[in-house]
Amino acid sequence: MSKKSNNEFESYIKDILTNKNFLITKKDLHHGTSKYEHSIRVAKLSYKLGKIFKADLKAVSRAGLLHDFFFGTRKDKPENSYLNHPVTAATNASKYFNVTDLEKEAIKTHMFHHVLLKRFLPFVNRKEKASIKEFKPKSKEGWIICASDLIVSIMECERFQFSYVANVTLILIFNILMFKN
Ligand SMILES: [Fe+2]
Ligand SMILES: [Fe+2]
Repeated sequence: MSKKSNNEFESYIKDILTNKNFLITKKDLHHGTSKYEHSIRVAKLSYKLGKIFKADLKAVSRAGLLHDFFFGTRKDKPENSYLNHPVTAATNASKYFNVTDLEKEAIKTHMFHHVLLKRFLPFVNRKEKASIKEFKPKSKEGWIICASDLIVSIMECERFQFSYVANVTLILIFNILMFKN
């Protein structure tokens, strides 16, 4: 990223990066890295994609940084689960920061890839429910956050958690075999 772009990116997110509530995410482990580091990677990639696709750069930077703004791990409490944490993060984002409706909606729909996966692979997170209509991104910015999170997560899993990738692969094979006939 050029120095000018980096300065622009930082100007959009500096109030969040230094906020004491957001700093708590440094302690939370996420894909084998800290949630804080993961969120910065997603925000940076969202900014870069935002430039390519001519999106609202402030919105993608802030929504990218706040997309996983919940406290603790996904297993700690029901509101942190795979499909509930986007709603929790959106609620926290508007509780602690000045976020727009566009940013809030993009945070809420960032797990759409998982909602879709669950639709086609019924054994994934059987106990959780999420409607495709409600959790489908409603804007270009929403699609960017969803894509960035998926790309960054895959890269982090490869780097830190081979077992996650292995588990997802096994689930895919199992489901394909189940529906073969
Ligand atoms: Fe997430
Ligand atoms: Fe994430």
